[in-house]
Amino acid sequence: MNVLQLGYVTIASVELAAWRSFACDVLGLMPNEALCDAGRLVLRSDERALRVSVESGPRDRFLAAGWELADAAALEAAGRELEAAGVPVEVGSPEECAARCVQALLRASDPAGNHFELFHGAAHAGDPCASPAAGQRFVAGELGLGHVVLPAPCHDECRDFYKDLLGFRMSDFLHAGPMQISFLHCNPRHHSLALVGAETPAGLWHVMFEVSSLEEVVAARDRLAAAGEEPRATLGRHTNDRMVSFYLRSPSGFDVEFGCQGILVDDANWQVEAMSAPSFWGHQWSTGDS
Ligand SMILES: [Fe+2]
Repeated sequence: MNVLQLGYVTIASVELAAWRSFACDVLGLMPNEALCDAGRLVLRSDERALRVSVESGPRDRFLAAGWELADAAALEAAGRELEAAGVPVEVGSPEECAARCVQALLRASDPAGNHFELFHGAAHAGDPCASPAAGQRFVAGELGLGHVVLPAPCHDECRDFYKDLLGFRMSDFLHAGPMQISFLHCNPRHHSLALVGAETPAGLWHVMFEVSSLEEVVAARDRLAAAGEEPRATLGRHTNDRMVSFYLRSPSGFDVEFGCQGILVDDANWQVEAMSAPSFWGHQWSTGDS
């Protein structure tokens, strides 16, 4: 299986209005108004029609990551591979595909119970992404929307699942105290997926959005302050992907990393390393955790 990129994420929220204000006013994501209604907020970060779908639900939590495959043949082959490995697979209905703005999708879960979707044929919006934050440009496109950091108490089994079955490659791994984290890539973005060997109540440790300059990161931090909110973690630079970022708490109880300057990986010469600290500087967490 050859995953191309993190295509989208789906999120459940009891309070869509809070998500709209967080996503648009603070993060600078663009609402796709044609697809929004009383039960759903659809957000863009590039030319695609949908990068984030926030759906009205009885509780706040992360729902699923959507991983893109090349075409219908690749999706059919992926379904067969999952079933051969004993992983139950459901085929998305035409209505579900329309809601995700894709041609076809499959649903399954990883060994930790994280739901994911495989899809092909993402629709484009037809007009350029215009961030509500003037001048802000997300780094997405073929690198995908960013990265997700999933809970994986059965860390090694989960890592092998994504490596051996979905075709992810190791970027590096981090042992920080009791915390074990594997970082994996499916395209040149340093990691589209990370697996933390611990549970988290909202179903996601964080999702990362990348913008094109440090000025845009600082401007987002200023917008958070203007909204009267504190960051979850201060500005800092990560040791592995070299990203300069800060962290915010989303209305659904998981964090958002907002950064720039993430490095790209070339499989021809990449060396997997073990890290012992997550950051060169900064990233001071408001509650002392990370
Ligand atoms: Fe991250």
